[in-house]
Amino acid sequence: MAEAAPHPRIVVLPGDGIGPEIVAAARELLDALGDFDYIERPIGGASIDELGTPLADDVLEECRSVDAVLLGAVGGPKWDSTDPAAARPEQGLLGLRKGLGLYANLRPVKPLPALIDSSPLRRERIEGTDLLVVRELTGGVYFGRKERKDGIAMDECVYSTGEIDRIARIAFESARGRSGRLTSVDKANVLETSRLWREVVTGVAADFEDVELDHLLVDNAAMQLVSDPVRFDVIVTENMFGDILSDEAAMLTGSLGMLPSASLGEGGPGVFEPVHGSAPDIAGTGAANPLATFLSVALMLRHGLEMEAEAERVEAAVEAALGVGLRTADLHTGAAGETRVGTAEMTEAVLDAL
Ligand code: IPM
Ligand code: MG
Repeated sequence: MAEAAPHPRIVVLPGDGIGPEIVAAARELLDALGDFDYIERPIGGASIDELGTPLADDVLEECRSVDAVLLGAVGGPKWDSTDPAAARPEQGLLGLRKGLGLYANLRPVKPLPALIDSSPLRRERIEGTDLLVVRELTGGVYFGRKERKDGIAMDECVYSTGEIDRIARIAFESARGRSGRLTSVDKANVLETSRLWREVVTGVAADFEDVELDHLLVDNAAMQLVSDPVRFDVIVTENMFGDILSDEAAMLTGSLGMLPSASLGEGGPGVFEPVHGSAPDIAGTGAANPLATFLSVALMLRHGLEMEAEAERVEAAVEAALGVGLRTADLHTGAAGETRVGTAEMTEAVLDAL
């Protein structure tokens, strides 16, 4: 008898706050789709408490050895400190991204028809929005030298030509597969790293003549994201600008609770996680919106496990649950036809719709 194909292996890192709740819901979703082997490990504050470090070496090693990593969220007031020597939950996430070489972070932003009126922005503004933020994830000020001495603090921002070139190519490829427009966002009127960024991106454009490239300064991009989001297709930008702009862009979808992300590198496993944080204020209340995590599962199926059909089933099921009016607290507007639900009911509805 032929040996059965092994099940995809997934490291599950629930993390802190609402992380464990939304990740548990995501595992229910995965179990409804097929057979997966899970290895659950701590990261962030949970790992500081359990193992004394935000990311243990053997946990990182395990992440390297599997097919994909599913992450909840890290951080919380319990571990907040301004002491430069204190261990922080976020170091676990940054160590994971760096350790796995995940330099490309994809954050698709497409408001679902059912949620257009959940956004604080007017329907006419956001209708037709369909953009992708490609955020550089392992460089810039996040990973530069940090120092605090004699009342002076410093965060160094460094980018090399190679780091910019490889993320630019990912962005051009993505634009090529979409509507063929790419906006590179920088602060070239002030920052030297941004001037190199602009130069390198312009150079890469020669290999992608079918893609229409423009450059925007980050302050202008932030403004246009809310005044005219439809003008954007793919946005490529450095690490910190991408962090800020993607939270802003999330509001176009109705809630930060809707935005998924995929972090990819060269060949190895990717990390799939919602863009939102650990929401410690609602942790344990059963109110968390699991949909950004479900949509991150869809990205994991698509980009990490070559299961495109299952990815589409998840996305359709999320739309179906919203389509019948179910809304978690973050999405609830009080309009007629909406039913306010918690994590469990939303999860059940998505599973039913599968
Ligand atoms: C994100 C988060 C992280 C980041 C934090 C938790 C370190 O905000 O993934 O956007 O800044 O990258
Ligand atoms: Mg962020």
